[in-house]
Amino acid sequence: MPRTPAILFVCLGNICRSPLAEGAMRAVAEREGIECLIDSAGTGPWHIGDAPDPRAQRVARRHGVEIGDLRGRQVSADDFERFSHIVALDKQNLAALQKVRPTGSRAELKLLLDYVPGMAGKAVADPYYGDENDFEKTWSVVSLGAEALVALLKSA
Ligand code: 4NP
Repeated sequence: MPRTPAILFVCLGNICRSPLAEGAMRAVAEREGIECLIDSAGTGPWHIGDAPDPRAQRVARRHGVEIGDLRGRQVSADDFERFSHIVALDKQNLAALQKVRPTGSRAELKLLLDYVPGMAGKAVADPYYGDENDFEKTWSVVSLGAEALVALLKSA
């Protein structure tokens, strides 16, 4: 387990939801002066090495956050050693992570919205087949998660 908090956001492709969550978390952590490692990954292999979806980049930029230099990667068992919190964007990815998780790992594995009061158990919907408005909704909801996670880290 790392000594400083280390947060990994995980979706399916690592080009839409988890890079937005990573960008939102970086912005909130910086604003609040919280020191933590932040990264994102996908459970699927299709977008390894790819930049975030252009729609995700535009939405983040509209909110003052640059995510264009992020690159897709696939989650691995090693991530359960490197990160203290592994945060799934939906239940399909939570189930995939439970399979990758090494026995005895102490990393906390939860849905992002489990950290948001009143939203436990809810998923962040995949905007990939939607339009830019769906990416705006994704930004709103991952920002709620980022605020809640930073509040938790501040209180620890
Ligand atoms: P994400 O969205 O999991 O939020 O990055 C997706 C991006 C790509 C694919 C699926 C979901 N895909 O099948 O390529």
